Amino acid sequence: MNKLGVIGGGTMGAGIAEVAARARSTVLVLERDEEAADAAVARIEKSLARAVKSGRLDKDASADAIGRITVTTTIEDFADRELVIEAAPEILELKVDFFSKLDAIVGPDTILATNTSSIPVIKLANATKNPQRVVGVHFFNPVPVLPLVEIVVSLKTDPTVVDKVTSFARDTLGKKTIQSKDQAGFIVNALLIPYLCSAIRMFESGFASAEDIDEGMVSGCAHPMGPLRLTDTVGLDVTLAVAESLYAEFREQQYAPPVLLQRMVDAGYLGRKTGRGFYTY
Ligand code: 3HC
Repeated sequence: MNKLGVIGGGTMGAGIAEVAARARSTVLVLERDEEAADAAVARIEKSLARAVKSGRLDKDASADAIGRITVTTTIEDFADRELVIEAAPEILELKVDFFSKLDAIVGPDTILATNTSSIPVIKLANATKNPQRVVGVHFFNPVPVLPLVEIVVSLKTDPTVVDKVTSFARDTLGKKTIQSKDQAGFIVNALLIPYLCSAIRMFESGFASAEDIDEGMVSGCAHPMGPLRLTDTVGLDVTLAVAESLYAEFREQQYAPPVLLQRMVDAGYLGRKTGRGFYTY
């Protein structure tokens, strides 16, 4: 699977495109307009420059990687892709629309994967005429740094499709893989989101400052960053969307989004990407 398509060049899509291009795949990225396409390229170039600066990548390899990435605004260009990974915003209707369009454009052997953080894969597979070829391939932010890919198998996913994407993630991209059944949140977000929501509730109640909550988990439990800073990194909008999917699936209080999270998203305080979340950037 050398010809990869990525739907969306945001934080996750750009990261997936970068790691695949560094692993010598040719990558086509879909963006909605020229401005968003330029922003996607800038995001990838910034991340590659960071890797060059820290000595993890040499300059020629960085130039080769960027040369293997093309950003388009035309979904029909995806006709020759062997694997397409959808990394659009976490909105069910938007993702369903992409899957139904892709299903009509790509060849019969193309695998359609989703990087959804929490939406059950079968809901996207059902938008296609061939749900056996649809699978979850969930990366973690920042994609060039975190080694994990979660493979999510729907009730209809063909086992050969699972084998192919697992081998792509492991052997081509050099990632570690874990496999999950098709339940909202899969393995990691089903554990992570209640933790992030607990920290937000703790802060919301005035129990402790954001700095002290984060310091507690960094210095007391050796986490690389505290839960509120991590929520800022993941994006408050993404965290809210995942909590809503989990709550819709399980109806358990631990997944219910805190009011403060909802209000901050309403206010446009989405975390690092907007310059303000629990901290300012
Ligand atoms: N893009 C590319 N590279 C990056 C990066 C980014 N956004 N952020 C950091 N890096 C690289 C740096 O260049 C550096 O590389 P180097 O050691 O070769 O120079 C390395 O990562 C470490 O970065 P820093 O020294 O700047 O900072 P830290 O040591 O604090 O590490 C971190 C930053 C890697 C983000 C670390 O804090 C971390 O791992 N945090 C936890 C992240 C996490 O839990 N992510 C999962 C979120 S859940 C998710 O994504 C699922 C979704 O569905 C919600």
